[in-house]
Amino acid sequence: PLLSQCYNLMDFEAVAKNTMKRGAWGYYSSAADDEITLRENHEAYHRIWFRPKILVDVKEIDTSTTMLGTKVDIPFYVTATALGKLGHPEGEVVLTRAARKHNVVQMIPTLASCSFDEIMDAAKGDQVQWMQLYVNQDRAITERLVKHAEKRGCKALFITVDAPQLGRREKDMRAKFTDQGSSVQSGQTTDTSQGAARAISSFIDPALSWKDIPWFQSITKMPIILKGVQRVEDVLRAVDAGVQGVVLSNHGGRQLDFAPSAVEVLAETMPVLRNLRLDRKIEVFVDGGVRRATDIIKALCLGARGVGIGRPFLYAMSAYGDEGVDRAMQLLREEMEMNMRLIGCTSVDQLNPGLVDVRNLGAH
Ligand code: FNR
Repeated sequence: PLLSQCYNLMDFEAVAKNTMKRGAWGYYSSAADDEITLRENHEAYHRIWFRPKILVDVKEIDTSTTMLGTKVDIPFYVTATALGKLGHPEGEVVLTRAARKHNVVQMIPTLASCSFDEIMDAAKGDQVQWMQLYVNQDRAITERLVKHAEKRGCKALFITVDAPQLGRREKDMRAKFTDQGSSVQSGQTTDTSQGAARAISSFIDPALSWKDIPWFQSITKMPIILKGVQRVEDVLRAVDAGVQGVVLSNHGGRQLDFAPSAVEVLAETMPVLRNLRLDRKIEVFVDGGVRRATDIIKALCLGARGVGIGRPFLYAMSAYGDEGVDRAMQLLREEMEMNMRLIGCTSVDQLNPGLVDVRNLGAH
């Protein structure tokens, strides 16, 4: 199908499914166990309804905002997804170029197919990039990576905290991980019998704990954000630990099946933070299942600073390369502008909890 016939982010998924190699599709699309959390991630947004305002002058719409001090044109970022070359021969730099074009941030994964420097080099001018970190059992390696990222101008460190062990993704395991492009630059030796994910992740330290946070704060001046927080108690603990942000996330349903959707955790978290006057102390991000600008708007109404988007850009990249990711972002942009207009908000700072009805959110 033609790119011009992709009218929303789900359309790219359908094309990718039919055109990608089986192993690559298996790695990108799979999630843990019965994939209940994977489905719930997007479905949870379907239980939130708008309370739109009328007769507001909505001629001019401004979708820009700031995340961790960076001005962005639309409140989403390209989240970290490993193994970009499974989907496209050039890998993650395809996403870098699209992020640049739309003035959004890209998070660089530890397990990128391109080297960290290649991805940093692909950025132009003052383009902002963040780093996602899987913490190595050998802390000397981790320290080197973090210091190098900071020296290269990375603007934030996202430490993944939901993956002490990689989840069991059976679709990925069945596909047996035989595609080209599946190597990463970390120099790890790989056992591919358990699928791509497990093959490349054996270095991750399951002993990582709250006690390690001060060490990270001692080795870098980058803001630190915990990626993969799944309950309000841990958000409060993150504030106590003095980190600058959290990503409410279940890793795209790829870790613990029956982990709650980020947006549901968000709806529980923000009132608690507001009551304790902590909502300005950290920036709260969400990811997982964001496929429509209405999803982005709902998350922002509930108090998220921004949302991460993973698979849709991988699918767009795999199916159509640069032009695909560009169009996916353009579609989100257009959806965002239109839907803000239709709920009666002209700028992101006007989005607030009164614009959404979450009475059914908890009712599965
Ligand atoms: C991921 N994700 C991820 N997260 C992370 O911290 N480090 C990583 O290396 C990866 N790798 C990865 C690969 C693939 C193929 C996917 C789909 C996801 C999780 C990712 O950052 C994010 O949490 C989810 O992808 C968000 O969900 P959606 O947007 O894919 O539904």
